[in-house]
Amino acid sequence: MTRKIHIFDTTLRDGEQSPGASMNTQEKLVVTRQLLRLGVDVIEAGFPISSPGDFKSVQQIAAEVGDRAVVCGLTRAVEKDIDVCADALKNAARPRIHTGIGVSPEHLKYKFRGMTLEEAIERGVHAVKHARRYVEDVEFYAEDAGRAPFEDLARMIEAVIAAGATVVNIPDTTGYNMPWEFGERIKYLCDHVRGIEDVTISVHCHNDLGCATALALEGVRNGASQVECTINGLGERAGNTAMEEIVMALKMHERNLDVHTDINCSEFLQASRLVSSITGFTVQPNKAIVGANAFAHSSGIHQDGVIKERSTYEIIDPSMVGAAGSSIVLTARSGHAALRHRLEQLGYDLSNTERFEKIHKAFLELADRKKEVMDEDLHSLMGEAERDESALYTLKSTQISCGQPLTPTATVTLIDPYGNERTACAFGTGPIDALCKAIDKIVQTDCELSEFSVQSVTRGIDALGEVTVRITARDGRVYSGRGSECDITVSSAKAYVNALNRMIQHQD
Ligand code: KIV
Ligand code: ZN
Repeated sequence: MTRKIHIFDTTLRDGEQSPGASMNTQEKLVVTRQLLRLGVDVIEAGFPISSPGDFKSVQQIAAEVGDRAVVCGLTRAVEKDIDVCADALKNAARPRIHTGIGVSPEHLKYKFRGMTLEEAIERGVHAVKHARRYVEDVEFYAEDAGRAPFEDLARMIEAVIAAGATVVNIPDTTGYNMPWEFGERIKYLCDHVRGIEDVTISVHCHNDLGCATALALEGVRNGASQVECTINGLGERAGNTAMEEIVMALKMHERNLDVHTDINCSEFLQASRLVSSITGFTVQPNKAIVGANAFAHSSGIHQDGVIKERSTYEIIDPSMVGAAGSSIVLTARSGHAALRHRLEQLGYDLSNTERFEKIHKAFLELADRKKEVMDEDLHSLMGEAERDESALYTLKSTQISCGQPLTPTATVTLIDPYGNERTACAFGTGPIDALCKAIDKIVQTDCELSEFSVQSVTRGIDALGEVTVRITARDGRVYSGRGSECDITVSSAKAYVNALNRMIQHQD
């Protein structure tokens, strides 16, 4: 059996400390339920002495969790903090008090105004003993362990283990360490601290240098069996190790590392969205595991590879983390393979190569104007291709001048059924009227534009505008036409020509 790595979630404590990420008790309970669905081992529910709201949250979270996870409350190495924390946890089925004090020269000198290491150790020992009066499970954090000399840290950790700590937390509070140095730190403790083999070593890493996940991994590689982390990497400053990242990294390399977690990874996306929507902290699109682009392929070469075999450019099956699937984002960089793949998925027959080439050309023209081509755009594009194939007259170009106080004028060039270019110019009450009149001059039929409507195919300022027109012929019959383009005056001309084509074809 591989070694189990316990997942300690601190979204509700360290995560909530991010400026702007505070949650009320109800919101914390919603997150708690999600953490239970993920199957985390420990939930750090808050810092009870910090406010009556935090106290109440810890109490209610403990009630909600029952025996499904350990519920932990944070304290300083101060008796009153510990008393209040114990009170908040008194109905918890599996309570843990998380107490601690600074160990680095920076913390001792400035935060504790010249406290000596011996004094800090004494305070830590006293805090652990005090917490043990209330609960069996006491975790001790040596704050800013990442910047403490190895021997100082080892002395403090040995003393708190002797005092009764069951878990020792080695935080890189400032995210200063390099991953390999942090690994050496954990190894040093394993090799030099008496009693360490009887307790759980926990790592709590911050992301100030973007290394939080790598630090935690090195911690695990060197003997830690608990990782403290948050959903989406929320936390003080640059945040903490992201749970989805560390758990997936351990999972992808579990054989090599000989470890496992009991996390239900298929809940990651849901958890990420929930925490993002409650805190208002959006997840960057390129965020590992849970970002919107984590399984999106945009370049033609990558799309071609993924269509042939997903694993060419994807190491994780999206369903493993609760994502719907890999997505092929159609852009100007997409090649034939991606376009063909998507159109076939949408049910179009592309067996005619010449036709597909024309569709591809139209797609590239559209993709040049729009950042992303959506399914709705593709339907529109295919509709346009079908209309063109049966057309008698096709639109080659339009030019319009309009605006206050100009008289709207349109110049239109059509290709007639014999392949000749025909150009006409007309004035109108508006640009669409001028366009239709110019087209009438070329086609020379008798009809009336009886209906005109325009609709956006997708959202956004660069969306295709689809125009539907209805024309009424002299015999009273009504013909409809459609056109779609980013420029709605062009969509209008296309729609009008399409309706005229249908009328002429019907009359012939
Ligand atoms: O970063 C840190 O050191 C902490 C401790 C309170 C565990 O959050
Ligand atoms: Zn922290």
